[in-house]
Amino acid sequence: MKINPVRGTHDLFGDEVNKFNKVIFEVREIAQKFGFNELITPIFESSDLFKKPLGDQSDVVLKEMYTFNDRNKDEITLRPEYTTPMIRAAISNGLLNNLPAKLFGTGQMFRRERPQKGRYRQFNQINFENFGSNDYFADIEIICLANVLIKKLLPDTKITLHINSLGDRENLSDYKKILSRFFNDNQKSLSKESIDKIHTNPLRILDSKNDEDNEIIKKSPKIIDFISKADLNNHEEIKKSLIDLGISIFEDLNLVRGLDYYCHTVFEFKTNQLGSQDTIIGGGRYDGLIKMLGGKDIPGVGWAGGIERIMILMKNIIQKNSDIHLAILDTSYKNHAIKIYDFLIQNNYSVYWNYKYNLKKSLSLANEKNADYLIIVGENEKINNNFTIKKLSNGEQISLNINDILDYLK
Ligand code: HAM
Repeated sequence: MKINPVRGTHDLFGDEVNKFNKVIFEVREIAQKFGFNELITPIFESSDLFKKPLGDQSDVVLKEMYTFNDRNKDEITLRPEYTTPMIRAAISNGLLNNLPAKLFGTGQMFRRERPQKGRYRQFNQINFENFGSNDYFADIEIICLANVLIKKLLPDTKITLHINSLGDRENLSDYKKILSRFFNDNQKSLSKESIDKIHTNPLRILDSKNDEDNEIIKKSPKIIDFISKADLNNHEEIKKSLIDLGISIFEDLNLVRGLDYYCHTVFEFKTNQLGSQDTIIGGGRYDGLIKMLGGKDIPGVGWAGGIERIMILMKNIIQKNSDIHLAILDTSYKNHAIKIYDFLIQNNYSVYWNYKYNLKKSLSLANEKNADYLIIVGENEKINNNFTIKKLSNGEQISLNINDILDYLK
């Protein structure tokens, strides 16, 4: 019986695992530098956590959630995103007592999307959230953090920060009405898919990827013309600081993001090297969301990045499997060899042995894997109770007893 992976899922192995681990390593390093603490939440939650906050007319809620009833009929959903679970966990565990609460997490998300390059049904996200600060410095800081991470992982990829402001919830609600009216008056130029959204969620028309909609979207009213003076000032200050930080920005007046909880600053880091799935990181402010989920009325700002999309753009990482390889010339020297094997590992070296009992094969593998040293164990070594260590960069070799090998390696 041959069982294939489920559509939209994938296994990670070889170099992909090295890249994945590098992303997680850098995320933790940078989180520590910016003072964000890790939060790990369950993979499934009550469905209610997602329905209203993500927008009951959003694609994620309407078509993409993996939802099921468990045995006592509780409705459960595999998390499609991490912001709402992090807020739920912060409220459940009293993490909002000292503000701002700066938290991050990484893990698998699940969306039943149409799979393609960079878009999967199970994928991994990096997620950074700052709960409790109204200061626009929090927006700059979290974007700066994303920029530092991208530079570290993708130093040679051209990535642009798209940014917009949605104003506050009242502005947004007025704007939706204006937009509905505009699209209603211009129905003739819209795709069928977009016409369906005119009265339910006109914002979603703005991120339509349908060519038919492009021309009319260009002419549509822009949210930036409806936001308050104070919001406009904040937006200008944020853009100015980001430019000062050397971040390449593009003011994208149609950027509204695909989930309903956003207001004020929204942003996406995009590249033209990924085809249609071109957003690596997306996020923004979501004032009002924490209150909606039963917490205090405090603001929040954050972002999530797709690890698989980052990995597609990362260079291969040549990983040594071990610094030191072993060459055991005959099975009868096994017991002598195991002593150095165990000793070096206990002293924090990584050692590899290929079970071949053949010097030529062990030597060529050690060279191929970029090992630093080969330890040879044969007749002489057994008789003299020592080990021959060969430095692979210059071919020099020397026989030493077990303790002297440690000094030699230092
Ligand atoms: P999102 O835009 O839905 O935002 O997802 C963020 C990132 O996750 C995307 O930019 C992309 O890199 C990756 N991603 C999304 N769907 C897929 C998929 N099917 N396959 C592979 N990668 C994918 C959020 O999830 C928000 N919670 C972000 C946020 C955090 N906003 C504030 N805080």
